[in-house]
Amino acid sequence: MKSLLAQIKQYKAAFILAPVFTGGEVLMEVLIPFITALLIDRGIEAGNIRQVYLYGGLMLLMAFFSLVFGVLAGRYAAKASSGLACNLRDGIYEKVQQFAFSNIDKYSTAGLVTRMTTDVTNVQNACQMILRIAVRAPLMLVCSLIMCFLISPKLSSIFFAAILVLAAALIFIMSRTTRVFRQVFRRYDDLNASVQENISAVRVVKAFVREEHENSKFRKAAENLCRLFVKAESTLALNSPVMMLVVYGCILAISWFGARFIVAGSLSTGNLTSLFSYVMSVLMSLMMLSMIFVMITMSTASGQRIAEVLNETPDMSDPDHPEMQIADGSIDFNQVDFSYKHGGSGEKTLSHIDLHIRSGETIGIIGGTGSGKSSLVSLISRLYDADSGSVCVGGKDVRSYDTKVLRSQVAAVLQKNVLFSGTILDNLRWGKEDATEEECAEACRLACADEFIERFPDGYHTWIEQGGSNVSGGQKQRLCIARALLKKPKILILDDSTSAVDTATDAKIRDAFARKIPGTTKLIVAQRISSVQDADRILVLDGGTVNGFDTHENLLKTNRIYREIYEAQTRGGGDFDQPAPEGKDGVPA
Ligand SMILES: Nc1ncnc2c1ncn2[C@@H]1O[C@H](COP(=O)(O)OP(=O)(O)OP(=O)(O)O)[C@@H](O)[C@H]1O
Ligand SMILES: [Mg+2]
Repeated sequence: MKSLLAQIKQYKAAFILAPVFTGGEVLMEVLIPFITALLIDRGIEAGNIRQVYLYGGLMLLMAFFSLVFGVLAGRYAAKASSGLACNLRDGIYEKVQQFAFSNIDKYSTAGLVTRMTTDVTNVQNACQMILRIAVRAPLMLVCSLIMCFLISPKLSSIFFAAILVLAAALIFIMSRTTRVFRQVFRRYDDLNASVQENISAVRVVKAFVREEHENSKFRKAAENLCRLFVKAESTLALNSPVMMLVVYGCILAISWFGARFIVAGSLSTGNLTSLFSYVMSVLMSLMMLSMIFVMITMSTASGQRIAEVLNETPDMSDPDHPEMQIADGSIDFNQVDFSYKHGGSGEKTLSHIDLHIRSGETIGIIGGTGSGKSSLVSLISRLYDADSGSVCVGGKDVRSYDTKVLRSQVAAVLQKNVLFSGTILDNLRWGKEDATEEECAEACRLACADEFIERFPDGYHTWIEQGGSNVSGGQKQRLCIARALLKKPKILILDDSTSAVDTATDAKIRDAFARKIPGTTKLIVAQRISSVQDADRILVLDGGTVNGFDTHENLLKTNRIYREIYEAQTRGGGDFDQPAPEGKDGVPA
């Protein structure tokens, strides 16, 4: 609640003005029936036309003010609640941008999107309602009750009976609906998650011909939601007949007793008329109060979910006096252990990693799936922090650098990479905002992306759809490499970034790297031996530990895992009747 209120910020004035104007509006509305009574008793009954004009004019004036206050209150309530919603969305968005990868692992994408849309809308609606009604209803209730007791304490006791009946009915209705509404919003989340997942992965759904299955799954979820809503709303619908019953009961009782009092001379006609207005006000405000409680229960769950994100502390922060300069491209892992905090098995993903890489070296990294290759390289650009030990770049701990500086000098082409909607140039300029077209073309030449870009009719201005869905897997990978190259980094990490590129192009890219950016430290994670065998040294990872770290030739002699991968790949891909070129090293081809 506190963290939500903190987001009011610049809309504080609106938050105060809305209830103030509502108060004014209620005051006018409460006084009008009172003046009506005076008009009837002193003007009409007494036959005094001057009094009629006086009180009539006063009533008109009050009606006018009530109208103006009402409009202003509505305006400020809308401004306050939409402003709060805007700030909340902004707050969540900003928070997510600050998140470290480990924070992102904790929330699902769908969860975050639902929080920014449905949940914020719930809070916004509740806020608007509360600003308008939460002030209005109790104020109206109290004022009207006071007025009633002022007019006739005896008749007003009828209210007590009415209020008791109404309260009992409301408690019953509310306890039932809140329970159902809680379920509704939980289901709502599931529904949103499923929509998110299915729409973003609609190609996979189609590829597996799962449309029917997904359709029926969704229909079931939607029907479930519908059923719950009907249940909640049909209970809520009881509100209105109960209300009518009580209202008419009160009016009947007041008419009956009121008539007797008038005959007995203890009540005037005017007072009876205004009493009727107050009866309506009292009962209306009770109804409104009940609605607010429902509204609050509906939005509490949403509010909590929003606060959860807002209160999340990013797992990573920059030091107070960060290093702004990276000396060179050397990398050191000093006895590093690492495990994923969320969603992982709890076991160590990497253990006892001790590596020392010189600036400008080309390092190949190979190992089975799940052996920890991606995890290892993610520590270098500090996407995650090591549990123990230290990772150093340019001789200094990565945690001592300004994250921006570090990530601009350590360019990582992630395994799960994406392009964004925009032109090819827009996407490339993620690497360097002010890159000229010539610089972009140069990076693309290095990444062997120029050949296919130039074949597009619009060249570098070709529009890329969301997620890069209109370029092939290999084309996408080459664009991602070019994007990283534009940073002119000291360290370049390619995490399985040429897996979809044909072997010849792959070799061409590596060759270009060796010639054009010799000073850059290059880490090439790959599944193909051919992608790493020319590297200065090759790291063999197995189950999160270093199994070997040496040149291709030495590993073939000494490392069983490397030799097995090599044999499997050359046997499958090579010619049967010719020994592989490395066969002369004494290794069976
Ligand atoms: N974000 C994550 N949250 C939790 N566990 C993870 C996460 N990413 C990876 N893991 C786990 O960490 C282990 C190592 O994964 P990693 O991605 O480093 O392997 P990899 O060697 O890169 O595999 P591949 O060759 O398939 O890319 C795996 O067991 C995986 O299940
Ligand atoms: Mg990987």
